[in-house]
Amino acid sequence: MKHPRKLIFICCGSDCKKAGCKKLSKDLAENLNQAPYKGKFKFIKTKCLDMCKSAPVTIIQDHFFKKASPERMLKFIDED
Ligand code: FES
Repeated sequence: MKHPRKLIFICCGSDCKKAGCKKLSKDLAENLNQAPYKGKFKFIKTKCLDMCKSAPVTIIQDHFFKKASPERMLKFIDED
């Protein structure tokens, strides 16, 4: 049976846009489209998550990332 993909939510509200959510998405996608991650994640862009002071904000499963960076998110994924 195929494993379900994990969901990564990326806020693309106005403050997160200013804080670089597009570059964050692009950098993450470049990493997660390679082995061993390829096909295991699905990106979902969201509207404002009401945590604008912590932009850019992302969520993997039930874990919030404030001032998210690809490095911290990949570290979390590797440790999960
Ligand atoms: S714009 Fe991303 S939390 Fe508000």
